[in-house]
Amino acid sequence: MRLELPARAERFGANLFYNIQKIYELDGGFELDSEFASPFHVIQQIPRERLYEIERDMVIVIPVKNERLRLLESALCGIPHDCLPIIVSNSHRDPVDRFRMEQNMVDAFCRYAKKRHIIVHQRAPELAQVFKNGGYHHLLDEEGLVHSGKAEGMLAGIALARLSGKKYVGFIDSDNYFPGAVFEYARLFSAGLSQSKSPYSMVRIQWHSKPKIVDSGLFFAKWGRVSRITNLYLNQLLSHYTGYETESLRTGNAGEHAMSMDLALLLDYSAGFSVETYHFVSLLEKFGGVLPSPYPEVMKAGTEVFQMESRNPHFHEAAKGDKHIREMIEYSLAVLYHSPICPESLKKEILRELRRSRIIGKDEEPLQPRRYPALSGIDFEAAGVSMDWQQHGNFIPA
Ligand code: GDP
Ligand code: CO
Repeated sequence: MRLELPARAERFGANLFYNIQKIYELDGGFELDSEFASPFHVIQQIPRERLYEIERDMVIVIPVKNERLRLLESALCGIPHDCLPIIVSNSHRDPVDRFRMEQNMVDAFCRYAKKRHIIVHQRAPELAQVFKNGGYHHLLDEEGLVHSGKAEGMLAGIALARLSGKKYVGFIDSDNYFPGAVFEYARLFSAGLSQSKSPYSMVRIQWHSKPKIVDSGLFFAKWGRVSRITNLYLNQLLSHYTGYETESLRTGNAGEHAMSMDLALLLDYSAGFSVETYHFVSLLEKFGGVLPSPYPEVMKAGTEVFQMESRNPHFHEAAKGDKHIREMIEYSLAVLYHSPICPESLKKEILRELRRSRIIGKDEEPLQPRRYPALSGIDFEAAGVSMDWQQHGNFIPA
């Protein structure tokens, strides 16, 4: 791959947030061009061996809930062979067992492609048992099963990725129409992570565009309503502490992101659709230097967050409705609002925003999404005992 060097960055305590990196060539060529090593070059070429090296150590978690089977298949098709896909499904099992259909399709697909994989239902007792054994009860509901929700599915995916022994974990939604886009996300993950000098790294994808039909023609929208608002307030939080206005953070709602396992296990998480915005909040709270950090080793090594602009348009199952969008805005701003490092002035602005767009009432406060403490609290030794990894790489019998 040939892409911009991560040149400029905002520093916040031990966190480095790099500006958006532009991609020049998705495939950088067989030979390494030594000219790119020159300190005056602003473009870099990442050796293909390096990309494969990371992909062999990377899990791609695919959260699914009642998506069309063909969409899920198209996501699978775009995952580079060496990555291990972990599909966490919360699809209905009743009156039609959609999970069973997914499982049949995925198993057959991976048998033909000779691809290792894991597929699990979010509400399977066997999955809950992993967390019970590991002594991490936060993720379980009154029935003793893993809570519903996208974030909760992602957390289950991280835990399984850790148990599979991989060093990196990425996330790609299952409602993507283009395998080429999925492939690009996975490649950007490996390219992004390969740049890090710290063991605590993250890559977040900014979509190049999201095509829509407007007046019977295609329109390539750059910013969704939700990202525009989330990024605005995230940057304000950053500016408040640095004293300099900034627009660096562009990926406050990046569903497509990847992390080193070392970082993934240390962050706290927030429920539902607030999970992506909360990554930033957790980074700022834990390693921002405003509050005492529970991890001095991270304060020393620093964290690195790369933001990369994909070239493929993002074409996903749209029209999940205005209610979905309003909910996403509320969740994203709620985690900023409720953070102990959110200054009063910003809280006021967030309230004004949410009230103006009538997402909350005049005297209401934004809801407080459920929080999950760092997954490093899991005893992975104990958590793994109930799992049978051998069964064609697919350990939940259903
Ligand atoms: P948007 O693209 O951000 O508007 O959100 P989507 O509704 O497309 O959801 C993102 C991804 O999460 C999709 O692949 C969904 O199928 C999946 N998803 C949504 N809810 C859940 C859930 O409760 N559990 C799991 N495992 N996946 C979910
Ligand atoms: Co979607």
